Amino acid sequence: MEKEFLQELIAFMQQKGFVWGPEPEIYGGMAGFYSYGPLGKLLKNNVEYIIRKTFQKNGFFEVEFPTIAPKKVWEASGHLSGFTDPMVECKKCKSSFKVEQLIEELFPNKNVKDFESFFKKHEVKCPNCKSLLPKDVSNHNLMMKTFVGIGGEAYCRPETATTTYLQFLRCYDFFRKKLPFGVFQIGPAYRNEISPRQHLLRTREFTQAEGQLFIFDHQKKDYKPFETVKNEKIPFWSWSLRKDDKTVKKISLGEALKNKWLKNKAYAYFLYLTYKTFLELGFPDDRIRLNQHSPDDKAFYADDAWDIEVKLNSFGWTELCGVHDRTDYDLKQHAKFSGKSMDVLDEESGKKKTPHILEFAYGPSRITFALLDIFYNKKSEQEGKTILSLPPRMAPIKISVFPLLRKPELIKLANKVYDDLSSSWLCKYDETASIGKRYLRSAEEGIPFAITIDFDSLEDKSVTVRNRDTEKQKRVKISELKEKLFVLLKQ
Ligand code: GLY
Repeated sequence: MEKEFLQELIAFMQQKGFVWGPEPEIYGGMAGFYSYGPLGKLLKNNVEYIIRKTFQKNGFFEVEFPTIAPKKVWEASGHLSGFTDPMVECKKCKSSFKVEQLIEELFPNKNVKDFESFFKKHEVKCPNCKSLLPKDVSNHNLMMKTFVGIGGEAYCRPETATTTYLQFLRCYDFFRKKLPFGVFQIGPAYRNEISPRQHLLRTREFTQAEGQLFIFDHQKKDYKPFETVKNEKIPFWSWSLRKDDKTVKKISLGEALKNKWLKNKAYAYFLYLTYKTFLELGFPDDRIRLNQHSPDDKAFYADDAWDIEVKLNSFGWTELCGVHDRTDYDLKQHAKFSGKSMDVLDEESGKKKTPHILEFAYGPSRITFALLDIFYNKKSEQEGKTILSLPPRMAPIKISVFPLLRKPELIKLANKVYDDLSSSWLCKYDETASIGKRYLRSAEEGIPFAITIDFDSLEDKSVTVRNRDTEKQKRVKISELKEKLFVLLKQ
């Protein structure tokens, strides 16, 4: 069922110009590389816009740093030694497998914690040639290696975060030497995944939108903005809760802090903010949960880590964003390896200290996939209708404009309406095919409102506005159209 749905969803994404690949398609495709077609790029832009707006509203500034850095940076960050996946290679057919993925696929009902020891204890056959897999697991580094100039060893960044930390001192000056402050990057990152097979959810090149808050340790504990949100509830599903309770619980931030599920006020505040961003991105509340990483799952740099997970129709609960408390780990490491002190004055104690970092790591590529997965609705085969019921604020194109028939007087007025609306929103003009077909096409592309200009429009200076989801139509005066659409498109 899920497999069928996924195939149908992928076919829809390809046909309608959302996502193409694996790329380069005409050469047979390379796993883990995808393109965004015209509608996919617009949707991803909208995702990035919402994330960018959230960061900016909270005083973060956007920056852009190089995506390639020399070996030493990754030695310092810990990625060169620690950013690895256990891997096994079939001796017979030479296929490579990520041990975790293999166990999850072959033993779906086992709740495995330590994949490597599970693999070593059980007989596991190669899914491709069915011969017994060897027990020698190796560590595969996920970074993509490259060379700069003649033989200068370098790596494509596996996260934007590290490249942001390299400019901490410059940013500190920009923020007039006052902590806390935040910056973010939206841009590409690369991971040489062993065998990516989950479409946009696991790719070798992808977009990250990562915010970094530089903050002293004591400021984390005594973070004033927390008071404004302490009674707000968020859907917790922590690993410590999970032992005896599998339900998602809505718990106030104040209570979560008291129970020690969250370690400090700044972390709690930003976790809430991240959850709210997911509501703004259009995800239904009952499909969102916050899942704490168990000590085994945590990345090597994280002291505490929670994922924002969304329930997909295709892949079930899926991580779309991670919130990490990276402590002073990164800045200490870069100070040690670069020889440049990252300690700055803490006015409260009058001493120099290494700041801590809270990180908010969104995956816009994954979020784009998730929106398509959730809002793709295929109506009955008989009706032959597909509706992409994205919330209007997320829709790639906002309005379609149709003359009812290809008559010069209708075309002239329709063009006038189109020109006027296009100055405020991305609109689509369409005069081909029957009006019924145009409505169907518009709904498939996720366009929330379709406007038709008919013969009455020439007399009463009104048009028909058709709602994509309810299929209800309303007459609206052309002079009031913009004002009404402005409200409707905010939904
Ligand atoms: N920077 C955190 C991550 O890549 O997940």
